[in-house]
Amino acid sequence: MLLTRRPRRNRKTASIRDLIRETHLHPSDLVAPLFVVEGKGEQQKIEGLPDVYRFSLDLLRKHTQILFDLGVRAVDLFTKVDDSTKDSIGKEASRKGNLLQRAIETIKNDLPEMCVMCDVALDPFTDHGHDGVFIDDEVKNDETLERLAQMSLLAAEAGVDIVAPSDMMDGRVGFIRQALDASGFTQVGICSYTAKYASSLYGPFRQAVGSGLKKGDKRSYQMDPANVREAMLEAALDEAEGADMLMVKPALPYLDVLTKIRAKTNLPLAAYHVSGEYAMVKAAAEKGWIDGDAVMMESHLSIKRAGADMIFSYATEELAKKLST
Ligand code: PBG
Repeated sequence: MLLTRRPRRNRKTASIRDLIRETHLHPSDLVAPLFVVEGKGEQQKIEGLPDVYRFSLDLLRKHTQILFDLGVRAVDLFTKVDDSTKDSIGKEASRKGNLLQRAIETIKNDLPEMCVMCDVALDPFTDHGHDGVFIDDEVKNDETLERLAQMSLLAAEAGVDIVAPSDMMDGRVGFIRQALDASGFTQVGICSYTAKYASSLYGPFRQAVGSGLKKGDKRSYQMDPANVREAMLEAALDEAEGADMLMVKPALPYLDVLTKIRAKTNLPLAAYHVSGEYAMVKAAAEKGWIDGDAVMMESHLSIKRAGADMIFSYATEELAKKLST
């Protein structure tokens, strides 16, 4: 048989495959979401997120060091606060000395080289579970911006490197940027959850931070999974408002969105492999139906290939372990 093109020649040996590999995953591509609780010696299991824990500050410190030693260079902090501190406007989110502020300080004091990000949204602090101020059955945009700016300033005072607003209010990147600059925090960055979809894949996360919705849904602020042009509009706005990094969330069902935004922006682009995506792999692996380790690696490599510079992932530690051996 005379074939002039035989692509299989480039797949013949492991060495040739190594030579021509287009995408590489490194521990420094990964951002570890970390859940924090009050107390001492606390390492709490989370339903739906096997091998992921809520840590008290003393153990958070140890865990962050382990990640750093594996080559991970960024963490993203989320807190689970007591229900008794919650109210309709999430006052606790901007209380000086709150758990989020102490968590940021703890890591930056101990390990200043670690890039510390924190989620900026009200849902872990509100009694209704919405990301914003909820009045008359509606999440109020402009009232929420004030609250997000206060939360960002508190994080900046504690030494956060990058704030990551995940609320999807209009205009929040510009509003937070102005508030930070006005207080002299010109070096604190903003990683915007640019295209955050109203996904069914956030369940285990809501368990983790105790933010289950009491009323309504998030479809008046998070995006319709059917839309991609709208994501391009969000990306253009966030860039114009001063975002330093953009994010698409969830990851695998939205790789087309990632690729399209990649083609339009020169900003670093993140993808969030969310709790439900992680849970699906773990559950199928537990049943013995798939090789969980291999699927996890393949999924993250694919997210990078599609255009992500970095991936927020609950599998950060396990992947970093594999990638560094
Ligand atoms: C809340 C927030 C959510 C996630 C990150 N920040 C959940 C939500 O919007 O309800 C989801 C992360 C995940 O599922 O892993 N602002």
